[in-house]
Amino acid sequence: MRYAETARQKASALAESGRAVILAIETSCDETAAAVVADGRRVLSSEIASQIDLHKLYGGVVPEIASREHVIALNPIVELALKNAGMAMEDLDAVAVTCGPGLVGALLTGVAWAKAFAYGLEKPLIAVNHIEGHVCANYLAAPDLEPPFICLVASGGHSHIALARAYGAYEILGGTCDDAAGEAFDKVGRVLGLSYPGGATLDALAESGDENAYAFPRPRVEHRYGYSFSGLKTAAINLINQQAQKGQPVNTADFAASFRRAIVNALLDKALPAARDHKIDKLALAGGVAANRLLRREATRMAGESNIKTYMPPIELCTDNATMIGSAAYYRLMKGETAGLDLNAEAGLEI
Ligand code: KG4
Ligand code: ZN
Repeated sequence: MRYAETARQKASALAESGRAVILAIETSCDETAAAVVADGRRVLSSEIASQIDLHKLYGGVVPEIASREHVIALNPIVELALKNAGMAMEDLDAVAVTCGPGLVGALLTGVAWAKAFAYGLEKPLIAVNHIEGHVCANYLAAPDLEPPFICLVASGGHSHIALARAYGAYEILGGTCDDAAGEAFDKVGRVLGLSYPGGATLDALAESGDENAYAFPRPRVEHRYGYSFSGLKTAAINLINQQAQKGQPVNTADFAASFRRAIVNALLDKALPAARDHKIDKLALAGGVAANRLLRREATRMAGESNIKTYMPPIELCTDNATMIGSAAYYRLMKGETAGLDLNAEAGLEI
């Protein structure tokens, strides 16, 4: 009872002052991350312990291994984040944590850690949606960016078009009805023999390939802002297998370039109309797939033709990290939104 009252008072004082130094924790998938972020826009430190090498052995994330590794990494990664920010625990104003969507066991490790930290230090606790976090990575990179804007969020688990109406207020205009864009990259990468996650390697290979070498169908989705990537993925895998059966394996660079072009066209085919339809002249990219070089180039070029300004976080802020959680948390805190000690992880949390 005492915690709730103290945390509430501290949170309202912070909201009134407009300032807050937040420790943010992210454990939704296979990265244990901690960061210290000031006032939603300034990164004081950012640390990430990646588990990718452990999961590579299995060709994808093994949830049980992910949870155990988070438990091991959380304390040292927070200590490092504090040390690099030049701060002691007492200097922090609040603690933020990703509470969903993601792997429920993985999320729970961060949520339990953040609750204990908040309770022990009597600091406000802020719950953050991982997708909102990806969107807010753009605030860290672009000091001038303010809502409203359209955000294309494409990652290993999600492909959404979001309309950020105001800080902390989003409308999901559309999403994928099957695979996410990153998932399609990773699955095709695996069939090409690339190690998990294949998206970044496939992107690098594509840079020297011919994007017209192989033809892919254009996904047909009725929803004006909806996506579907499973048809493209299946077409790609079938082509690789058919060529192998004929004894003429695909040229990896050409194949990567053609497949990447098909995914990027599909993503922008829906994101740009979303901006135009809503008369919004700002398009932001977010999520791991926003690291894709062709997507970054094409978004800039195609949006520019419609006088739409493009925003994208630097590559290291596209993939999972805790700074984006710290930014999203600041805007929640400023609206007086804090979480109680009954906070739970929610694997399917919607934005
Ligand atoms: O946002 P993220 O780190 O995790 C999720 O929330 O899912 O995104 C990871 C995804 C993986 O599917 C990975 O292959 C993809 O982002 N990715 C890329 C690139 N870098 C990472 N996909 C295409 N091109 C890239 N350069
Ligand atoms: Zn993510």
